[in-house]
Amino acid sequence: MSSSCSPDDWVRLMGDVDAAPSILNTKPWFFGLVSGNRIELRPRWERHLKVIDPRHRELFISCGAALFNLRMAIRVTGHDPVVWLLPGRTGATAVCEHCGNRCGTGDLLASVEVVLRRAHPGTATEQRLYEAIPERHTVREPFSHGLQMNMLIELERVARMEGADARLLHRRETERVLRSAAQTDKELTLDSSYLAEINNWTGGDPGSGLGVAAAKFGPKPKGQHHPPVRDFGPGSPDPREVKKFEKHPQLIALETQTDTPSDWIRAGQALQRLLLTATCYGVETSFLTQHLEAGDKETGTCQPAHQWWQWPRPAQMIIRVGSQ
Ligand SMILES: Cc1cc2nc3c(=O)[nH]c(=O)nc-3n(C[C@H](O)[C@H](O)[C@H](O)COP(=O)(O)O)c2cc1C
Repeated sequence: MSSSCSPDDWVRLMGDVDAAPSILNTKPWFFGLVSGNRIELRPRWERHLKVIDPRHRELFISCGAALFNLRMAIRVTGHDPVVWLLPGRTGATAVCEHCGNRCGTGDLLASVEVVLRRAHPGTATEQRLYEAIPERHTVREPFSHGLQMNMLIELERVARMEGADARLLHRRETERVLRSAAQTDKELTLDSSYLAEINNWTGGDPGSGLGVAAAKFGPKPKGQHHPPVRDFGPGSPDPREVKKFEKHPQLIALETQTDTPSDWIRAGQALQRLLLTATCYGVETSFLTQHLEAGDKETGTCQPAHQWWQWPRPAQMIIRVGSQ
């Protein structure tokens, strides 16, 4: 990147943001170059999952993860990205046409100015996080190794750098979360609007770059009432392999101070910093979010109605960590 963003720079940046994780791989972000050095992030509302994500919380988390990739992609050029979250905030007066609440977000999620004057090289950490962008993937396989305490502390540290808390759940909490996720899964198999939305975004053409391809569903969990992975092929008679998952998965809750749209974008950035850090250390990750979505739907907050969450701060994501 020299005095402004060239077409080649732009292609690279967009490739990097598109490698971010997103709910059902909807990639619900749109980045626009509005001047030589200012980039705006807006949601792609046509990809909003209205049933699964009624408050567009997960859409904003996904956009936050893509924003983190953009920041790293800019940093490795030696320039600084200066980020304003929700700069077009309306003061929460109008009813949002997408969630029906007075969320006041408007359509501009972030404005990023690339400061071209004072170039200074990216740190070794920024360089390594950037290189991890294409290496990171969601792994829905059983894990045979857990994480050592020092690794968990490192993940906690990097999430805090982005304004979120990553907390390892203790065994009883983990059981509650797994029970709640399994219960939600069971209820969802009876919800035709959920099934329609999930079918729309799963099992499609892997070449499209959107949605979760059948090959990514992972194996069917063997003989477990409360498996630690979400079933993306509910009720389908697919010939998936059957495997036993770990009995005591390590789950991390990503929590924010409050539960506002800016918290969600921050949570997305924290999520991606945590996931890329994990990737650098050979740690694999997957997610369990269906019970958080059920909370969004039932109570209008991500504190689910099932009483599985006992802490004051809202959990935005549940991340399973380990390695095969
Ligand atoms: C907000 C959010 C929620 C997600 N929820 C789940 C989930 O419940 N189960 C799951 O297996 N993956 C979940 N994912 C992972 C996405 O399915 C995954 O990021 C997407 O398919 C792209 O694949 P990749 O992560 O391998 O690049 C979630 C991702 C995000 C950002």
